[in-house]
Amino acid sequence: MASQPTAGPGEIDLDQVDLTDPQTFLNRELPPMWRRFRELSPVHWHPTEGLMPGFWVLSRYRDVMAVYRDNRAFTSEKGNVLTTLLQGGDSASGKMLAVTDGVRHREIRNLLLKAFAPRVLEPVVDAVRRRTEGLVRAAVERGSCDFAQDVAEHIPMATIADLLGVPESDRGYLLTLTKQALSAEEAGQSVEESLIARNELLLYFADLAEDRREEPTEDVISALATATIDGEPLTEEEIVFNCYSLILGGDETSRLSMICGMRELIEHPVQWKRLRAGDVAVESAVEEVLRWVTPAMHFGRRAVVDTEIGGQHIKAGDIVTMWNTAANYDDEVFAEPEVFDLGRTPNKHVSFGYGPHFCLGAYLGRAEIHAMLTALRTMVTEAELTGPGRPIHSNFLHGYSSLPVSLTPDQAGLARSRMA
Ligand code: HEM
Repeated sequence: MASQPTAGPGEIDLDQVDLTDPQTFLNRELPPMWRRFRELSPVHWHPTEGLMPGFWVLSRYRDVMAVYRDNRAFTSEKGNVLTTLLQGGDSASGKMLAVTDGVRHREIRNLLLKAFAPRVLEPVVDAVRRRTEGLVRAAVERGSCDFAQDVAEHIPMATIADLLGVPESDRGYLLTLTKQALSAEEAGQSVEESLIARNELLLYFADLAEDRREEPTEDVISALATATIDGEPLTEEEIVFNCYSLILGGDETSRLSMICGMRELIEHPVQWKRLRAGDVAVESAVEEVLRWVTPAMHFGRRAVVDTEIGGQHIKAGDIVTMWNTAANYDDEVFAEPEVFDLGRTPNKHVSFGYGPHFCLGAYLGRAEIHAMLTALRTMVTEAELTGPGRPIHSNFLHGYSSLPVSLTPDQAGLARSRMA
């Protein structure tokens, strides 16, 4: 086991950092904390209290990438985020893409990849642009809004619901369940409440899949409900868990990227001016927002064989966590990582993971942030925070559930948008 460094006065004592506690991510300046991890203990052993196992914490880009790449030595089937890994597994293991490995993972992923090909997504992306432009326009016309609740909340969920074929009337209900299932927005939401929400989502999709099996339409639920692999249909659980995984993966990460993107543009007026003036491409701005924000802070795996990471022995069965939020600020890979630079190229961030489980919705996630940045730079001259914003309470997701802002209109851009 690695011997842990001791902290000098005013320095962060890495042994005192509790990465299982959401509060840690609210109380601390994260880049300096992760810099210290990378420098002093890049493959760090994190103990836990009680009966739960400890886990390895990876903060260097190269180590994080090595584990993402290798799904033979490291499995996702015992969970892929700390909560499930520490509980000993994920009930969707072997059925839901993100927590399935091997042949079955490839088969289901190939099936879903067809539904996520850029060509197939074109109409969905068009709808994203129209919806985003409309929401930003309405906010600009009002002059102020809660960017989280009035704009960002209505984009990814509607998009993934379009893709899945979820009826309009059910969308508000699903958004509430999604929030409860994945992140406890307010401190104090219990684990039981999250589990109840998750079960309700699964039941909802079971009903919808049943309907679509009888009367298929052009949507992902119908595709899953009617697909066969080697002549065999997917099991009910595979269908339901994969619908669930799309709606969870597709909603909150994109939403938080947009909200934080807005906040960072306000906090970095020089970068905002560069974006407005067209001095940087929207595409590179999207990538920098993703790197800087890193909405999904970590993922994890279990080692299936004895192995080694960065010179550290890892035993079969050990939990290994990859901190994207640290890897994305590693100065071995990113020049001046603590500078927000919308023109940064290259920008090989790991916000979408890497390797066999690389995010299935990356194209869609990028398109959503692109639409938001485009709408803002066209219709807004200046934006300001009008309140502190409400950070979410999570050791997995990073972002805000509320972000009050004022928006000063670009009258010419607004007029063009109204006419379009
Ligand atoms: C996987 C991040 C948007 C669906 C992943 C992974 C990451 C990630 C890091 C890898 C997980 C692992 O290795 O264990 C993000 C971020 C997004 C985003 C930051 C937005 C900015 C989306 C969207 C969808 C989606 C829009 C669907 C519509 C999925 C699915 C997987 C996945 C299904 C599992 C893929 C597999 O296991 O083969 N995502 N995601 N994500 N994501 Fe995303």
